[in-house]
Amino acid sequence: MAKLLIAGGRHPLQGTIKISGAKNAAVAIIPAAILTSAPVRIENLPEINDIQALVEILEFLGVHAQWESPSTLSVDASTLDKWEPPYELVKKLRASYYLIGALVGRFGRAEVPVPGGCDLGPRPIDQHIKGLTALGAKVEVEHGIIKVEAKKLIGANIYLDIVSVGATINIMLAAVRAKGKTVIENAAKEPEIVDVANFLNAMGAQIRGAGTDVIKITGVSELGPVNHSVIPDRIEAGTYMIAAAATAGNVLLCDVIPKHIDPIVAKLREMGVTVDVADDQVRVIGCHLPQAVDIKTFPYPGFPTDLQSLAMVLLTQANGSSIITENVFEGRFKHVDELKRMGARIKVEGRTAIIEGCSQLSGAPVRATDLRAGAAFVVAGMLAEGETVISDIGHIYRGYEKICSKLNSLGANITEID
Ligand code: EPZ
Repeated sequence: MAKLLIAGGRHPLQGTIKISGAKNAAVAIIPAAILTSAPVRIENLPEINDIQALVEILEFLGVHAQWESPSTLSVDASTLDKWEPPYELVKKLRASYYLIGALVGRFGRAEVPVPGGCDLGPRPIDQHIKGLTALGAKVEVEHGIIKVEAKKLIGANIYLDIVSVGATINIMLAAVRAKGKTVIENAAKEPEIVDVANFLNAMGAQIRGAGTDVIKITGVSELGPVNHSVIPDRIEAGTYMIAAAATAGNVLLCDVIPKHIDPIVAKLREMGVTVDVADDQVRVIGCHLPQAVDIKTFPYPGFPTDLQSLAMVLLTQANGSSIITENVFEGRFKHVDELKRMGARIKVEGRTAIIEGCSQLSGAPVRATDLRAGAAFVVAGMLAEGETVISDIGHIYRGYEKICSKLNSLGANITEID
């Protein structure tokens, strides 16, 4: 299995990189494409393994998917004739659960293996099931397969017990074809949800309120063709902003939506990092001793949980001690032990981590526990003395397009080794 070798030395990152399409929008938009038998064209897709895995699943289900370029996919789901994607494909990515909402919306039925577990702690899908059941579907989970059958989908009022990106989108995918009106309350407000709603509305769906906590959907009988460009990835952008700050570098990121990175911009400025935002670009100019700050992760527009591990690495270099509270996932501190092996001084108590600043990290062999932790170890490796070797880098390639070449173009020294 390939590994990443990171040369340390705290070299400041300098230069310009382009941000790719948003993984967490793309992994919902590709399944959503099967809601119509008309031609669908999706641009600005990131070149990452999760997207390849989803295209493989669609092809298994009888869909014709054609790459017009490395980032543009044409989908013809008129030949879709199966609703049981196989476990060996589904287990590759958690977001395969969007196939449930899409298949139920298209066919009224789906048999999808329960998505793989993840290193973020338990990741139930009870809210997804609550929503589909409310729409009139019969849902059974047996032998690790989620079986859904809905002779008719009827619009319903659904109040989510917990703010959930996945449940909000999955319910939307089924509700666009339900008879009558659906209202999702306590809905998640992430920009990726808005992108999926825009995609569906361009196909003729009637969705209002995406991006707020109340989404209203009037079902339609048919969905038509669409040509859509995926929004830029705010988490990828935040990753490189934090890398620039941590190495006291000077990096310009192109193709961002400023509103979507507000929480990261605010927190970096609070630390004394210079962040200049203009149109669709952001420049980050790091400083040698950023100020320690406290961070609480929350659903959008709060500080994103997906940048928690990255922020933790930055805070090991801050002046003073910081507190991170992880309010979204209960098991999202699995990267702490590996960072401590690199010399970080971190204490975890439940959902809180206390990070001592001014730590000199030292290179070590570490294992990526999830894709964001993997990216955090890349940044930690750049700050460390000596070399860091990261294993299980498949996690990283699931969600970061060309992360090695993007960082090396800024002056990092990362090589893939066997
Ligand atoms: C999405 O996961 C993202 N993944 C995650 O990004 C992201 O961390 C998360 O949203 C939060 O922003 C994709 O979009 C593919 P949730 P999702 O449902 O939808 C609980 C990455 O690194 N919950 O918003 O699975 C859940 O356990 C990934 O790109 C239930 O209890 O997250 C969690 O504590 C990691 N029941 C909280 O809600 C449910 O039915 C938020 O989860 C669903 C969720």
